[in-house]
Amino acid sequence: MQSVAADIDTLFDQVLALPGDPRDVLYEAMRHAAIGGGKRLRPLLVYAASNLFNVSRGSALRAGLAIECIHVYSLIHDDMPCMDDDDMRRGKPTVHKAFNEAVAVLAGDALQALAFEVVADPETHPDPFVRAELALELARASGPSGMAGGQMMDLEAEENRFDLPTTTRLQQLKTGALIAFCLEAGAILGHVPPEGRRGLRAYARDIGLAFQIADDLLDVEGDAAVVGKATGKDADAGKATFVSLLGVERARKQASMLVDQAIAHLAAFGAEADLLRAIARYVVERDH
Ligand code: IPE
Ligand code: IPE
Ligand code: MG
Ligand code: MG
Ligand code: MG
Repeated sequence: MQSVAADIDTLFDQVLALPGDPRDVLYEAMRHAAIGGGKRLRPLLVYAASNLFNVSRGSALRAGLAIECIHVYSLIHDDMPCMDDDDMRRGKPTVHKAFNEAVAVLAGDALQALAFEVVADPETHPDPFVRAELALELARASGPSGMAGGQMMDLEAEENRFDLPTTTRLQQLKTGALIAFCLEAGAILGHVPPEGRRGLRAYARDIGLAFQIADDLLDVEGDAAVVGKATGKDADAGKATFVSLLGVERARKQASMLVDQAIAHLAAFGAEADLLRAIARYVVERDH
């Protein structure tokens, strides 16, 4: 995890070098959000899935950089006053606090575009069909059928009392779609046809849900200083989450059941999938 995180920091440092002109403030804001913080779970997942199929570390890291660009953009906008209105992220002031709202909108927009620039660059993979499929899947995972759609449902969850199936769908879009892309990216980079991706997709679905349940539990039980962001926000907003619907105990049980299920979906793989198994356990055991 540490070595992938360090490499992602280095790549961000390279692609976000200050141009030395009036755009510097935009780059500073993107660097503030993107460098030096975060678990880098999504790049690690791309790397771990890529390891199953002998993908080069360079290709895996660049696909990981792309998904982290989308993730960071989603966090910048998620924290804005018009959405969750948060002051702290990754233990630092949020972008609209450290800069201003207009800069935060642009920093998010620019990171989203940068993600597609990174996947479309031949440096990511020599095969143009691989690059096109990565771009297609990243777009699907980020847009109205993925993260952005889930964020819309999440806003609606403040006004409506969603039931468990609707909340599950919300979480699958909001958080699960980007996580699922990470596993898919490993298979795409490894030229694995869709029939060969079933186990990984099932694993992704289960850890994606478990991951969001853990996030909701941290919002209730976590220590803001350790989590690096404010806690108690979901209840304040009256948001339907797994924790509000099931209670803490059942939510925790559900998450650990999902982790066991995720690991079971990797049965066709040997020791080469041990990192994915460890990540599945980490997803619910984490304290931040
Ligand atoms: C937080 O994601 C937002 C959710 C999708 C729940 P992470 O918990 O992965 O945040 P970082 O990247 O480590 O800051
Ligand atoms: C945010 O979910 C998910 C995305 C940014 C797509 P949350 O609003 O629960 O994330 P945190 O708790 O602020 O990190
Ligand atoms: Mg939110
Ligand atoms: Mg939030
Ligand atoms: Mg949360």
